[in-house]
Amino acid sequence: MQRHKTAMVRHTLSQPMSLLVRHGLVGPEATVFDYGCGQGDDLRALAAAGVTASGWDPHFAPDVPQVSADVVNLGFVLNVIEDAGERLEALRNAWSLSRKLLAVSTMIIGQVPVDGLRPYGDGYLTSRGTFQKYFQHAELRAVVAQVTGVEPVALAPGIFVAFRCPEDEQDFLLQRRRSRRSSTAGYRVERPRRAAIARPEVHERIATVIEEMAAFAMDRGRLPHPEELTPTGHEKLSHERVSFTRALELCREVAIDEEAFSSATAARREDLLVHHALGILNRTRSASQPSPAIIRDVRAHFGSQRELGEQALEYLHALADAKRTAQAMEVAAELGVGIIDEDGRLVVDAERIESMPGVLRCYIGCAFHLSGEIDGPCLVRLDPLRKRLTLFPLEEWDPPFPVSTRSVSIDLRKQDVYFRLKLRRLVRKADIFGMSPRSKQRQLERQHREQSGLGERIVLEHVAG
Ligand SMILES: C[S@@+](CC[C@H](N)C(=O)[O-])C[C@H]1O[C@@H](n2cnc3c(N)ncnc32)[C@H](O)[C@@H]1O
Repeated sequence: MQRHKTAMVRHTLSQPMSLLVRHGLVGPEATVFDYGCGQGDDLRALAAAGVTASGWDPHFAPDVPQVSADVVNLGFVLNVIEDAGERLEALRNAWSLSRKLLAVSTMIIGQVPVDGLRPYGDGYLTSRGTFQKYFQHAELRAVVAQVTGVEPVALAPGIFVAFRCPEDEQDFLLQRRRSRRSSTAGYRVERPRRAAIARPEVHERIATVIEEMAAFAMDRGRLPHPEELTPTGHEKLSHERVSFTRALELCREVAIDEEAFSSATAARREDLLVHHALGILNRTRSASQPSPAIIRDVRAHFGSQRELGEQALEYLHALADAKRTAQAMEVAAELGVGIIDEDGRLVVDAERIESMPGVLRCYIGCAFHLSGEIDGPCLVRLDPLRKRLTLFPLEEWDPPFPVSTRSVSIDLRKQDVYFRLKLRRLVRKADIFGMSPRSKQRQLERQHREQSGLGERIVLEHVAG
């Protein structure tokens, strides 16, 4: 199997590496080892940002020594290995090199269509003769847990981090709820230029067009139509005598990271579904008059408006299905977006709604359509059993026990909204923000619970008066 063919040229950090940087797990103070580094573009970007990093790859960098590092990345390697025993071995080796943490990512089921691919072992043979196994998110978690002996933390679907030391894990959990993330701006891939090229290659001559096309693709989860390229882009192409189709091909080859593109596609599909489902529910007039750009999106992602309509209806049925919403809530809680309270309801910081699974965003979108949104700090509580969503505006986040004086409940069954004046205290701020077990906030909350005889999972405490 020609596994190396799976390694693409990257122009930006890979998704797992970018997440590690944004969460502050990778930076100039931590050393990095990229196990199965492919063409090494992540390493070049890390070096450009001042991070000490090296990597090994059986095809591209077989002679580089495998060394220990604070952070080891095993990025999209397990999914290209057809032999299950060898997968475990790669995982074991990578873990043994990591001093602080190991990041493991794979393609996951549903990220790309597998129609037409030839089944092979527990995966598929692609048209390029490479092997791809698409993992279930939970399956990957189990494999990582089995090999490392550590319950890994999910950074995104198909991307896990296993920490050696529980304190580091807790620090990370605290960091991740903070809205301000580290930037990846300094992490640019600078590929070595080939010497003695008389004339730049085509893709270099039309680099601005390729950039424009790639930016469009990552935003919309699909490639642009000729009408969607700017006039300057067209001028450049005709000046360089490159056809639109050829430019697109080059763009895919040199500028589009396939995993990031499939995530962008999945995100755009979900946005369209949520948007359309809300349109059906609220009978929004604009939903029946989509713009040409949306029509193209729908065609690319769903084939037809009718198919989108059917899938959106299916989405709405999911809203009515308490079991499915409950499952989506568990996924959200597992990803650290909110916590489940004593009555099985999900409580989440309103700022984090965009990171929730689509079914829940749809649920919340429906409710917001009835109630309008709330400005300022606010908790959102989803109660799929009673088809209810309640908003708790908070006076401010800063105090250890932030206070809410009123709530807005939206009853999706009755399509009605109820306001209530009631004093409540948030008594699980540490969980909402994922603070460390040793944090002062958690100690305060524990003391408070003991003194007031509050149950462990109570999130909002009623206050008399
Ligand atoms: C899809 S590429 C990913 C490359 C890189 N990590 C990235 O994200 O761009 C998979 C890489 O895994 C490498 N590989 C194949 N078998 C491996 C093994 N047993 N151990 C480590 N790497 C392996 C291949 O040579 C290939 O470069």
